[in-house]
Amino acid sequence: MFENISVDISEGVAILTINRPKQLNALNKQTIEELNLTLKDIEENNEVGVVILTGSEDKAFVAGADIKEFADFTIPQGGALAQKGQDLLFNLVEHYPKPVIAAVNGFALGGGLELAMSAHIRIASKNAKMGLPEVSLGVIPGYGGTQRLAQLVGKGKANELIFTAGMISSEEALRCGLVNEVVEQDMLMETALKMASKIMRNSPMAIRSAIKAVNAGYTSGLNGFQVEIEEFAKCFGTEDFKEGTSAFLEKRKANFRK
Ligand code: CAA
Repeated sequence: MFENISVDISEGVAILTINRPKQLNALNKQTIEELNLTLKDIEENNEVGVVILTGSEDKAFVAGADIKEFADFTIPQGGALAQKGQDLLFNLVEHYPKPVIAAVNGFALGGGLELAMSAHIRIASKNAKMGLPEVSLGVIPGYGGTQRLAQLVGKGKANELIFTAGMISSEEALRCGLVNEVVEQDMLMETALKMASKIMRNSPMAIRSAIKAVNAGYTSGLNGFQVEIEEFAKCFGTEDFKEGTSAFLEKRKANFRK
């Protein structure tokens, strides 16, 4: 159905694969739009509990925004590129009500690392290399990278990675908290699916609230502690809460996905 992405939904997990291997899966305008439409569609699909984002073939997750597309842009066009990208994809992923796992299967550079950082969880293959090389092109990260990298690894390490435009190995990414786990490339999807299946045992309504509460602390103008109180309270009105607490008291497994 789409030109640049493929979508595979099975057992409650949607795997979205960015499929431009010849361009190392670089994010052009059309790919961002296709991801936006698919994510919106999946949001309404009650069968899907977790989304996995990955790149096609074994060399790249995403090698960045498509440089060919913006090489001759003016100031207003540059602003529109960043704004539109953040609205259509990067903020959508960060605030997505279902967990999004990035399965980082190779280069995750610039917009590619920014996409992985928008996801809620990152699992990388050993061959993955990550970085924000934008200043080597004379720009800065424009899809949220200056903010999310500092949130994940701290300001000092983020400054180092951004100023040097260097790439780090998956092991270094693990050490500095940029990724959650590193595995052999042939185990990457299996590991991501295992994590998805652990998540799927739990209450989708509570997870949606947890995403809101965790994100609130990183959103200016919001008080994360207050949002946590509100989301905590809302859980008490859900079917999932009734099922989860009854199951515990009745010494059985909760079934949240009837
Ligand atoms: N945009 C467009 N095309 C890209 C691309 C990108 N970000 N990254 C790679 N490609 C293309 C190459 O142009 C090349 O195409 P051709 O065969 O038509 O020449 C093809 O993918 C294969 O790439 P290489 O031949 O360069 O492969 P390599 O193994 O020698 O190097 C690499 C791999 C180190 C990842 C290198 O491709 C590279 O440095 N890519 C650019 C990375 C980058 O700077 N990303 C940041 C983009 S800016 C951004 O993302 C801005 C933002 O925040 C909004």
